[in-house]
Amino acid sequence: MSKFSISVLLLMFSCGVIIADDVTDGTELLFSLLIHRHGDRTPIEFSLLLSNDPITLVALSAPYGYGQLTDAGKIRAFALGDYIGRRYSELLAPRYNRSEVYIRSTDSTRTKMTILTALASIYWPAEGTGWSDKINWEPVPYTTVPAKYDFNQGTVNCPTFTNYVTAAMFTPYPELSERYSEILALLSSKLGYNISNVPLIVFAIYDVYVSQLSLGLAIDDDVAAVLDQIEELAGISFDLLYGSDNYKKYQAGVLLNEFYTYSAQAIAGVDTQRLRIYSAHDVNVYAFEAVTEIENRQGAPKYASAYSLEVRRVTETGEIVVLPVYQPTPGTPEIYLQVKGCGDVLCNYDRFVEITSSNALDEDTWRIECGFTDDLVIDDSSVD
Ligand SMILES: *[C@@H]1O[C@H](CO)[C@@H](O)[C@H](O)[C@H]1NC(C)=O
Ligand SMILES: *[C@@H]1O[C@H](CO)[C@@H](O)[C@H](O)[C@H]1NC(C)=O
Repeated sequence: MSKFSISVLLLMFSCGVIIADDVTDGTELLFSLLIHRHGDRTPIEFSLLLSNDPITLVALSAPYGYGQLTDAGKIRAFALGDYIGRRYSELLAPRYNRSEVYIRSTDSTRTKMTILTALASIYWPAEGTGWSDKINWEPVPYTTVPAKYDFNQGTVNCPTFTNYVTAAMFTPYPELSERYSEILALLSSKLGYNISNVPLIVFAIYDVYVSQLSLGLAIDDDVAAVLDQIEELAGISFDLLYGSDNYKKYQAGVLLNEFYTYSAQAIAGVDTQRLRIYSAHDVNVYAFEAVTEIENRQGAPKYASAYSLEVRRVTETGEIVVLPVYQPTPGTPEIYLQVKGCGDVLCNYDRFVEITSSNALDEDTWRIECGFTDDLVIDDSSVD
C-alpha cells in the first residue's frame, strides 16, 4: 500500500469519514440540493498586499482582472460538472430539461462562469446527439439574483451578519494566538506588521496564497513548509466566522429552508425539480455544513468543492433519509458526512429536520433579523 493511501486511511479513521461506497446501495435517490464553490480565481484586490510578491501577482492577474475565474479554474469547473453529471445521472436526462433541474448562481462573474463551464460538461452531447455537428455544447441557462437581495450573500447584504464577521475577524483569541504562535510570528515578519493578536486574519492570507499558487507563483519556502498549518488555522477561522452557532443561519439558514420546501415536494411526489444546484462561494459551502450540523466540518473549502444533501428512500423499509455528501475538490472521491446526533450517515429525514430546524429561516424573517432595508448600500467588491 502506498504512503498516500495509508495516510488517506488514517485520515478517514481520525475524522470518522466514510468513503463513498455501498452506503447508497438499496436506496433510491429522490432529491438533491448541491452548493459549490467557484473554480480557481485571481486574488481579490484588497488581499494583494498579503502576498509575498504583489507585483508579480498583479501582472499574473491582469489578463483576467481581480477575483476572476482563471483557465485553471475552468478546468476545475469542468471536472466539477463531471462529478455532478456522474453522481446525479439518475435525476438528469442526457439533454437539458428545465423540469428536472434548478440552477442558480450568485451574481458574480466567477460563480457564473463556473456553473456555465460545469454545465457544458454535464450536458456534453454524446456523438451525434447534439443540435450541431460542429459545436459540442448545449446551452443551459441558470438564474441569478442581485447581490443586494440574494439570501446566499449574507456576508454583503445582511448587516447583522456583516457586523458580526467584521468584529470577529479582529477579535483576539488568546488560545489560538498561543497555539499558532510560531505561524503568526512567521507571517508577521513577512507582512511587516504584527498579526499575533488577530489570528483569524490568516483566513485572508491563506486565501491569497492559494490563489497565487494556482497562478504558478511560488510562496516563500519557509511559508510553504508550514502551509498545512496555515490551512488548519484558516479552517478554524472559517468556523469562528461562518460556523458560529448564533450567526451561521444568516449565511445559510434560508438555503436550509429551501431544502426543506423542495425536498418535501419531491418526497410527496409533487412535480418539482429534483436537482437544485447553487453556484456560490467558500463561505456558502462552509456555512451550509454548519447549519446542517455536520460533526466533522471540512475546513476551508477548496476551489470547486461541492456539498450536497441527498434525500433517499430505503427500498426495503420505505424510510426516507438524508445523506450529506462532500466533494473536497473535483477528482477526489466524495465522502459522506455525519450529522451530529443522528446515529447513521443515512440520517432519518424527520430526525434531520428536528436537529437542524433551529438554523432555518424563511426569507422574510431573515431580512428582518438582518436589519435589511431597501436603501441599504452594499459593498459587493469582494464578490463581483
Ligand atoms: C422533461 O421532464 C419532465 C419531468 O420529468 C417530463 O414530464 C417531460 O416529458 C420531459 N420533457 C422532455 C422534452 O423530455
Ligand atoms: C506581536 O504581538 C504579540 C502580542 O502583543 C507580542 O507578544 C509579540 O512580541 C509581538 N511580536 C513582535 C515581533 O513585535
